[in-house]
Amino acid sequence: MREIAVFSGSAHPDLAAEICRELGEPLLPVRLQRFANDCLEAQLQSNCRERDVFLIQPLSPPVQEHLVELLLMLDAARGASAARVTAVIPYYAYARSDKKDMPRISIGGRLIADLLVTSGVNRVLTLNLHSPQVHGFFSVPVDHLHALRELAGHFRQRDLSNAVVVSPDLGYAKSAAAFARRLGLPVAAGAKERVSDSEVHITAIIGDVAGHDVIILDDEISRGTTVFELLDRLREQGARSIAVACTHGLFADNALDKLAASDVTEIVCTNTAPLEAEHPKLTVLSVAPALAEAIRRIHDGESVSSLFDH
Ligand code: R5P
Repeated sequence: MREIAVFSGSAHPDLAAEICRELGEPLLPVRLQRFANDCLEAQLQSNCRERDVFLIQPLSPPVQEHLVELLLMLDAARGASAARVTAVIPYYAYARSDKKDMPRISIGGRLIADLLVTSGVNRVLTLNLHSPQVHGFFSVPVDHLHALRELAGHFRQRDLSNAVVVSPDLGYAKSAAAFARRLGLPVAAGAKERVSDSEVHITAIIGDVAGHDVIILDDEISRGTTVFELLDRLREQGARSIAVACTHGLFADNALDKLAASDVTEIVCTNTAPLEAEHPKLTVLSVAPALAEAIRRIHDGESVSSLFDH
């Protein structure tokens, strides 16, 4: 494979710059322009011909803007005769749209995967898809990393002698169990039903949390609806203390402030999506070293799964 060429859209320039520093490669310039009729145009301002091109763009809010930017950059790379184009999508927002659980609804996770392929993507590097089967929506190879190593590294510095890991729902229980195994802890899970984007019910917790120091683990905190509902159940069941961890910290609707104002001891997330807000209770762990190592391995044709096993 020829030379590597790394570009970024406008979604998360800080993460892209950090990945490039880790890789020891320059972040090449991209011109993004909006016309009077609101259409976008992307120009990759460095040679792509026969290069191994990586385009970094999480689908963070505004999701639709960032998605179209990525599609246009993919089209530009293909049109510029790139040898291979990998989309590095640390946060694939549409992964939550992964099933037909109501009549006549769209399945965005699959549609956006198809759009990426139509736009010229040859490979996708992503992190913690909402459910593992979303991987199968893509008809090109996907390297699906997780952030359990980073999150576990953080909690290893804490006193875990009385701790238990709790997943808000059974869907994420497998990942929570993998995280708990890394820390040598037991695991519990909530029985959760989502009624709407802003309403969830957790009717029971399967596993023992009474008197324990709980670490809640979820893939994403968006509005925080799930976490707040889980906090209520954990308090009712007599948890001694509660820390909150997730991969994708979106914190919409002031969720960070609300969560920090509650009795949680700490909030931990990664930088897969940009985060403006700060709080003394919040720790943001970087996934740039993991993504840079995966990019290097993809470029060199080495195994990625052996590094980031599930
Ligand atoms: C949903 O099933 C996910 O695993 C997360 O629990 C969800 O994305 C969190 O969203 P919110 O914070 O708005 O409840």
